[in-house]
This record gives sequence, structure tokens and C-alpha cells, in this order.
Amino acid sequence: MIPVMHNFQPFILIVDDNLGSTQVLLSVLEEAAFTTLVAKNGESALEKLEAISPDIILLDVMMPGIDGFETCRRIQQNPANQGIPIIFMTALSDTEDKIKGLHLGAVDYITKPFQQEEVLAKVRTHLKLRQLTKTLEERNLQLKHFNETLEDKVAKRTARLSESLKELQAAQLQLVQSEKMSTLGQLIAGIGHEINNPLGSLYGNLVHIEQYIQDLLTHIHLYQVHCPNPAVDVVENAEKIDLDFLEEDLPQVLAAMKFGTERIEKISNSLRTFSRQDDDQKLAFDLHCGIDSTLMLLQHRLKANNKRPEIKVIKEYGELPLVHCFSGQINQVFMNLLANAVDALEESNQGRSFEEIKVNPNQIIIKTELSANSQSAVIRIIDNGIGMTDEVRQKIFDYLFTTKGVGKGTGLGLAITHQIIIEKHGGMLEVNSKIAQGTEFVIKIPLQ
Ligand SMILES: Nc1ncnc2c1ncn2[C@@H]1O[C@H](COP(=O)(O)OP(=O)(O)O)[C@@H](O)[C@H]1O
Ligand SMILES: [Mg+2]
Repeated sequence: MIPVMHNFQPFILIVDDNLGSTQVLLSVLEEAAFTTLVAKNGESALEKLEAISPDIILLDVMMPGIDGFETCRRIQQNPANQGIPIIFMTALSDTEDKIKGLHLGAVDYITKPFQQEEVLAKVRTHLKLRQLTKTLEERNLQLKHFNETLEDKVAKRTARLSESLKELQAAQLQLVQSEKMSTLGQLIAGIGHEINNPLGSLYGNLVHIEQYIQDLLTHIHLYQVHCPNPAVDVVENAEKIDLDFLEEDLPQVLAAMKFGTERIEKISNSLRTFSRQDDDQKLAFDLHCGIDSTLMLLQHRLKANNKRPEIKVIKEYGELPLVHCFSGQINQVFMNLLANAVDALEESNQGRSFEEIKVNPNQIIIKTELSANSQSAVIRIIDNGIGMTDEVRQKIFDYLFTTKGVGKGTGLGLAITHQIIIEKHGGMLEVNSKIAQGTEFVIKIPLQ
């Protein structure tokens, strides 16, 4: 608020022992409608100033008792009097006094004998200055206060906004996650199921085939023993089909077929484990089974190709009880972390030849153990890939943060992982990394 000038009734304290000059001053000032108060000496002035706060003080230099200069010094010692302008009254010739007064902090001086115009002009000017200063101080104070509340408001609103943003991102993540999981999960579960029936028939019938072939071969051997001289056609056909080789090779062909079907079965089981839909409640889950399923589904990315030998996966599984968790989500975490590890290894292979990589092979170590207090399962996934800088490390859990090229990275994997471990399971997630050396992710999941 701005103080209104015309309501202002200036109040002037006159300090002078000389009755004559005081009378002159009073008549001048009262005629100009100022309110006045007179103190006869320095001591009396100081006493009065304990109770009042004039807008200006007219102070005589020459007084009995403490003189004007000393009075001025003492007035200014009291912080309550700070800012009250003091005008000295001195004889016309006392140049030295004038300078001394100004040095002591007086704002001006008027000379005796008084010139009416001079007195009024100086008093008015200093009153105006004083008033302006006061207004300025008040405005400054208001401004400061306004600034502080503004800063406070901005800070509060920013905090609220970033809070909302975080909530929004979390909700969005969950949407993306559940959307992805439900469609993909259903699809995968469906495929797993569809594969299972024909697979069962294949595997079951292979056993019969093995038996039938064995029987047929035994039968042929009986013929060979009991009919040592077969017709020419029989001999020719035996040569044509290379009967001896066929007999020798058949068991191996069968074994290969069995191995193949077993592999399909494992993959199909992994798909079903991986896509287990258990979003409504936590179930007891074998984490090792989850990791193995995930590795099975990642086989195609781990095996050797023409650029590098296979990625070595070293499992150091400890004793772990079943863990109460949303297994589908936990598998998703394993998939995100292992896929990132493979990406980091692939990146570290850039510019290295097959032979160089073979000497210093790509590897992923998966360690599991019970936490020291036996309350959580601890899983470490350690790669010797490209590693990351501190700057990157601080952002990896941010929504949409990726260092990978367009189409390669989504920047969602670790944000989802963080949400699943921290929020959904009350667990912990830690990362240790050294550039060009590798990265370790540590997951802690409470058993219950
Ligand atoms: N094992 C790792 N080694 C090095 N950097 C990693 C590793 N895992 C994650 N990162 C870094 O974290 C970023 C974010 O990972 P993520 O959220 O899974 O998104 P995306 O894999 O789609 O980039 C990656 O782009 C990469 O820079
Ligand atoms: Mg990723």
C-alpha cells in the first residue's frame, strides 16, 4: 500500500535554549501549519524522543549542558530514531560547525538569524525526502514479501506439478505394461497351449516309432538268418537303400528328433511360465524357474553368430525358497534386464573381431542368494558389456530415457522394472556400473 501524502501532518521537534530564536521559528512553522514541540536543551530532547517520533528535528549547536553535536550523536545511537532528518541551526559565520554537523549525519543546516523562506524551503524539502524514503522502504518491504510468497508459491506449484507428472507417468507405464502384458501374454499363453497338444502326440508317438523300427529290424535280421539266399530283387534293393548305413543311422536320426521335440517342449513351457497371468494376486513362485524360462526365450540372442561366439551365461544359483510375487511381472523384469545386458554386450563388440571377442568373451553372470536377514531374495545380473557413465546412470530409470537408436530402444524397460520392483513388490533395485567394464543390477524382492 502506498501512504497517502496529503493526510500527512508533519511533526517537528525544535531543540533550542534561546527563547527569542525559538519564538521566531515557531511563528514561521505554525503559520505554515506544522505541528511543533520544543525542547530547551539536549537532555530534554533525548528524553522526549523516548516517547515521540518527530518527522524532523531542528537542533541548535550552541547550548548549555550537552551541545548540539553531542545531542545529535546520542539521538542517532538509538535505532528507533534512525532516519529522522536532523537540521542544525548555526550562526551564519560558523563554516566549521556546518561541516562538522554534516559529518555527524545532519541532513542540512539553517543559519541564524533565520530567513523565513530558507527555513520553510529546507524543512519542506527534507520532509518530502523523508516521506519519499519511507514510502520507498515500505514498498521495498512489500516487494520483498511479495517476492518471498511468490517464490514460495512457485516452488509449491512446481512441486505439485512434478508430483502430478510422476503420477501420470506411473499410470501411463502401468497402462503400457498391462496392455502389453495382457495382449502379448494371452497370445503367448495361447501359442504355448496350441503347441502342447501336437507336441504331446509327436513325443508320444516317437516312442512307438522307436519300438516299431526296432521290431522291424529284428524281423529283417531273422529273414537274413533264415533265408540266406534271397531273390535278386531283394539283394539289389538292399544295396540301393544302403541297408547297413540305414540301420546304423536310424537311431541317431531318432535321437535328434527326440532332442528337437524336447526343446520345443521346453520353449513352450517357458512361454507359459513367462506369460503366467497373475495380476490379481501374488503367488508362490520359483525365481530360478523364471530366470531359466527367460533365458530360454532369449536363446536366439545368446547363441553364436558370424560376428561373435556365443554369450556365456554363468548361473550361480543359491538356495532360494519360493517367493510370493506377481510372477508374470517378475519375469518381465528378468527379460528387461537380460535383454539390456545383451544389448550392452553387443555394443561393446563394435569394432572388435570374432577372434578378439573370443579371447575376452561376452558373459552374463546371474547370482542368486538369500539376503543376510533371510527376508528377501537377492538376484544379481552382471554383464561385462559397454557399461555407462555416471550421467547416464542417473537417468536410466527415467521414463522414456534411452541411449539406443530409434527403433532399438524404447526407454521403458527400466522404468517398468523400477515400478514393478519398488512399487509392486516393495523391493529394492540397485545399479553399479563402470564405463567400458560392465554393469551389475541388484534386485531385492521380499519373500512375502
Ligand atoms: N546392462 C546395461 N549396460 C549399459 N547400459 C545399460 C544397461 N542397462 C540399461 N542401460 C542404459 O539404460 C538405458 C535405459 O534402459 P531401458 O529403460 O531398458 O531402455 P532401452 O533399453 O529401451 O534403451 C539404456 O538405453 C542404456 O543406456
Ligand atoms: Mg531395455
